[in-house]
Amino acid sequence: VNLLLVGSFADDEGAAWAEALRQALPSHHLLLDRKPGLAIDVAIVANPPPGSLRGLAGLRLIQSLWAGVDRLLGDETLPAGVPIARMVDPAMNEAMAETALWATLSLQRGFYRYAEQQQQALWRQLPQPRADEWPVLLLGYGQMGRQVARRLAQQGYPVTAWRRHAATAEAAPGVTLCQGRAALQLALAGARVLINLLPLTADTRGLIDAELLARLPPGAAVVNLARGAHLVDADLLAALDSGAIGHAVLDVFQVEPLPAPHPYWRHPKVTVLPHAAALTDLRSAAAMVAANIETLARGGTPTHLVRRDAGY
Ligand code: NAP
Ligand code: GLV
Repeated sequence: VNLLLVGSFADDEGAAWAEALRQALPSHHLLLDRKPGLAIDVAIVANPPPGSLRGLAGLRLIQSLWAGVDRLLGDETLPAGVPIARMVDPAMNEAMAETALWATLSLQRGFYRYAEQQQQALWRQLPQPRADEWPVLLLGYGQMGRQVARRLAQQGYPVTAWRRHAATAEAAPGVTLCQGRAALQLALAGARVLINLLPLTADTRGLIDAELLARLPPGAAVVNLARGAHLVDADLLAALDSGAIGHAVLDVFQVEPLPAPHPYWRHPKVTVLPHAAALTDLRSAAAMVAANIETLARGGTPTHLVRRDAGY
């Protein structure tokens, strides 16, 4: 199988991927550039520049190294009809659960506020609510959302998770599932923390706006771990400045890296992460990609295929 690796890689990230993939797929042929006359079977992509896959006739699979495929699907030159598989990696799901747990614990116990107090050499103890008094609303109950919900529920937080489809299987213990706008509005009214783990699609873009934020109880927190475009920045800043929202933990932004003049960088009620909530783990991710390509080589159907019409 001829494989083409293409992406927008930082520093030596591309070389590290190439090495990990060659080790995981020793009997296949990995290229870093197209060669005239050589047909590519599988494109392995990490946010490839638009147009990168244009004209690749004979392509049998596009394997994304990213979990979110919003940018990939936004490329109008993407070969039509070719299956797209996205990254699903238990190590990444676990990293996401750790980030969500850290943010929720820090909010519940006031640790961000203590960090702010330290800047002013202010010695003041804050109220100490219990985990079971700190309801969390999770937007998205997919690969990441399920692991996040499980870990938060194990820690004692009451978790409600909102998803698109009606639940087909039982939720993890301590997790309540809901769907639809009416249920979302009800869940918002009871949440201390809103955690976003939705894919970015036509339905979810701009979902976290002034109207949604106003449905949260006063002083609730927003944790955005999915995509910057889920959130209307001006609406969040206004809600933070009025005190309607108490704190925001933001890992993802409309423009990345977050530009230096952006108010989020210096806002006392915002914690900024550099899109690091769950980095792809090269070892387990390369093994997942290899398994999908071996399945394809045997004539089988790769796993974790994207529904192009749904956008995730
Ligand atoms: P996933 O398995 O596809 O799960 C998506 C979840 O969102 C599903 O539960 C789905 O509902 C729900 N959903 C989709 N559209 C919806 C809608 N219109 N209304 C309500 N619920 C909706 O995705 P994942 O692997 O968990 O990843 C989620 C996102 O995390 C990715 O798309 C990416 O943007 C982001 N991410 C961020 C980082 C980071 O480091 N910050 C890392 C990896 C991924 P159903 O279950 O009903 O289908
Ligand atoms: C990271 O944000 C990913 O989608 O893998």
